[in-house]
Amino acid sequence: SSAATYAQRNPSYSTLNSSDITYFRSILGDKNVVQDEDRLSAANTDWMRKYKGSSQLLLLPKTTEEVSKILFYCNSRRLAVVPQGGNTGLVGGSVPVFNEVIINMASMDKIISLDKVNGILTCEAGCILENLNNYLTSEGFIMPLDLGAKGSCQIGGNVSTNAGGLRFIRYGSLHGNILGLEVVLANGTVLDMLGTLRKDNTGYDLKHLFIGSEGSLGIVTKVSILTPAKLLSTNLAFLACNDYLSCQKLLFEAKRELGEVLSAFEFMDSHAIDLVLGHLEGLRNPLPTSSYKFYVLIETTGSDESYDKAKLEAFLLHSMECALVSDGVIAQDISQASTFWRIREGISEASVKLGAVYKYDLSLPVEKLYDIVEEMSQRLGDVAKVVGYGHLGDGNLHLNILTAEYSDDILAKIEPFVYEWTSMHRGSISAEHGLGLMKADKIHYSKSSETVQLMASIKKLLDPNCILNPYKVLPQSVL
Ligand code: FAD
Ligand code: MLT
Ligand code: ZN
Repeated sequence: SSAATYAQRNPSYSTLNSSDITYFRSILGDKNVVQDEDRLSAANTDWMRKYKGSSQLLLLPKTTEEVSKILFYCNSRRLAVVPQGGNTGLVGGSVPVFNEVIINMASMDKIISLDKVNGILTCEAGCILENLNNYLTSEGFIMPLDLGAKGSCQIGGNVSTNAGGLRFIRYGSLHGNILGLEVVLANGTVLDMLGTLRKDNTGYDLKHLFIGSEGSLGIVTKVSILTPAKLLSTNLAFLACNDYLSCQKLLFEAKRELGEVLSAFEFMDSHAIDLVLGHLEGLRNPLPTSSYKFYVLIETTGSDESYDKAKLEAFLLHSMECALVSDGVIAQDISQASTFWRIREGISEASVKLGAVYKYDLSLPVEKLYDIVEEMSQRLGDVAKVVGYGHLGDGNLHLNILTAEYSDDILAKIEPFVYEWTSMHRGSISAEHGLGLMKADKIHYSKSSETVQLMASIKKLLDPNCILNPYKVLPQSVL
């Protein structure tokens, strides 16, 4: 179909035979070698239902040693594999393209330790983000990342995509928060890099190669991560702005006036709000009128309840006085705050309800960030709904284009325009979701050919038979 990128099956990979199955059963046990049609169909299909593989086999290892044995075997047999976490990825990276073996990490879901003095959590890669956050909360900590997919995505998947999300503005990238990893290479070698040190400049810091490499260089089996203390007071404001310039000025002011307590700055345009309110049950606009063009969520997190609240109230008042904000409301309790978040986090779920969605995830200079939404909407006219939202505080726009069904004509109006435009403004065509299958061939819009060549050399060094997540991340032409 025109939904996914076309790829040619690489004939150098073997196809599965009955002795492969016998071998996998001998190491994993029968119930962790899945051939059931329904379970395979779910594991072959991505979250958007846009990418669909035809794998005949799903493996569920329980230990690093099992992952190592699987990869050693697959590498010697030239069986291609797809590492899979919660399968919430948005670029077609987590499902097979053809009949690759799926290695899902869900059964490696143990918490190994929590160092409560330093706030360092060590756990297996299959732990679900929300479970980790709940566990940490009961111990007085939080995860340094949060995203709408928290109920299904796994920490190993988060590491492998270098997921950004809603707390990035405060706690930064996983490149800063991940202290150690255990990774299994394509040939089964286990790399123990599971340090828990804040500072360690001893040689090349190899764990960074695996953060954001989307399962193309190794399988992450264990993670240690720095976790911030859970602070007592959180406040959340839902604000409306009449134009994009006001959103920018509001960001500038929020960084100054709320500096030390600012913990999220998210934005959505009126199309995004209409989409969520129109397609998800039980939500309504928190503001009395709904004629605004932009909405901003500002969260603060600090340790002094009355001071933090007063600070946000003063900021809101001041922003209204100077007309940056047209209307706004501060959540009065936890349930109202979670409704505000539900509106923002529900955009992805609502975006797949219309039929087809073309998702772009761009880093752009903040001044230019909304121009692409307007240009795209002019280009497409009535044939599509163009929606803009994202992590404005991080310069990350999510541009979603919604239509009733996928069509080559519409795709040709969007691409390569969107990539050329981003490249021209020296932005990134993949701010946080990764390249996956969707953008493997588009990497040159954001990276020079010399850097792509070096990436290919690293890939070939670590995975000479290219069994790990084929057709993804890098163009076939450089491998
Ligand atoms: P999967 O989708 O299963 O896999 C993603 C990639 O990682 C694949 O290439 C896969 O091969 C690889 N992989 C998975 N596990 C491993 C492992 N253990 N070792 C090696 N490779 C592995 N992303 C953001 O960055 N920010 C957001 O705010 C955000 N919000 C989202 C909201 C929703 C509702 C949804 C559906 C998705 C969102 N995403 C977001 C995208 C996605 O959730 C993240 O990329 C997430 O980190 C993927 O985790 P996962 O466990 O589901 O991985
Ligand atoms: C988000 O910020 O909501 C996510 O990255 C997911 C999406 O864009 O659909
Ligand atoms: Zn996002």
